[in-house]
Amino acid sequence: MERPKDFLVKTVIIPSSSTYIMKAAHFLLQEQLVAFPTETVYGLGADATSSKAVAGIYHAKGRPSFNPLIAHIDTLEMAQKEGVFNTKAELLAKAFWPGALTLVLPVAETSTVSELARAGLQSIALRIPNHPIALSLIHGVERPIVAPSANRSGHVSPTTAHHVLEDLDGHIAAILDGGMTMIGVESTIVACLDEKVVLLRAGGVSREEIERVLGESLVSPHSLNRKKPLAPGMLTSHYAPNAKVSLESEEVFEDSAVLLFGSFEPRGIAKARRVINLSPSGDIKEAASNLYAALRALDGSDISQIHVVPIPHDGLGEAINDRLMRAAAERK
Ligand code: TXA
Ligand code: MG
Repeated sequence: MERPKDFLVKTVIIPSSSTYIMKAAHFLLQEQLVAFPTETVYGLGADATSSKAVAGIYHAKGRPSFNPLIAHIDTLEMAQKEGVFNTKAELLAKAFWPGALTLVLPVAETSTVSELARAGLQSIALRIPNHPIALSLIHGVERPIVAPSANRSGHVSPTTAHHVLEDLDGHIAAILDGGMTMIGVESTIVACLDEKVVLLRAGGVSREEIERVLGESLVSPHSLNRKKPLAPGMLTSHYAPNAKVSLESEEVFEDSAVLLFGSFEPRGIAKARRVINLSPSGDIKEAASNLYAALRALDGSDISQIHVVPIPHDGLGEAINDRLMRAAAERK
């Protein structure tokens, strides 16, 4: 997965004062790429209406072109120009926006987003992020900003400006520094393409919260028996550090690192080179916010295996376990 840096551009980390946010907006309008914080993870932003800028994202991340992008907007009105909202989609947007919920909707005829960003699909993914810097940036460019997580394709998502630099230095114009992101895992993605509401990716808003608002259960994409997958980008191996990851570990071996949660300790933990506890008190939200930084910090050429102890599945635990399962999956 390593690739040479081509250093096409000099990447600068810039502070997030209003002057610099305007500078970042200016970069975007010039079809350059700018990473920015959201409440979930850092996004790699491009002008969604420019195919050239959108192509730049796929190139900078090394992302397969069949994997579509989320368009970030700052008002429901702007969203309604891009996607067709049925009653359930409108209910969810009103309950959770701005916030960590992405809606996949039929694309509207009035959409301004480049077809490349949709990877040729007839649907579009939309989200209003709940972060002042992200919102100012969208407001500044007055158009949707497409933004995947600002990491190399397949690698661990970034929760600090420094993580973005580690992955994308030399490939993007600027990184707006907004400190560590709050939620720490990506948005939850649901599709509202017909009467069923399908959970495509667990994330920052829990299944339970969404089901409470809808008054019905979310449908699993596997139950739909579609020929083409509804979520083309959900690759089995993803969010992966360089070291191998093993789940539900009860015993630790040499040259390894350990990811703990709560008070459980695996046997042989004294042999571990590095140990990080996602939340000593067993708080699942705290664990989500620390997950990606911990995976990056435990990783290293001296580590052959990262052992992860069992983590509960409820609330944000569903998203944490989903990401860890992909981090542990066999690499292609
Ligand atoms: O929290 C987040 O969602 C972050 C921040 C930056 O907003 N963004 C993010 O983007 O996680 P990305 O590109 O890493 O993940 C977006 C996922 C991909 O798996 C993609 O396949 C899926 O959204 N997606 C985008 N458009 C879609 C569509 N029309 N239908 C189905 N899935 C779609
Ligand atoms: Mg991503």
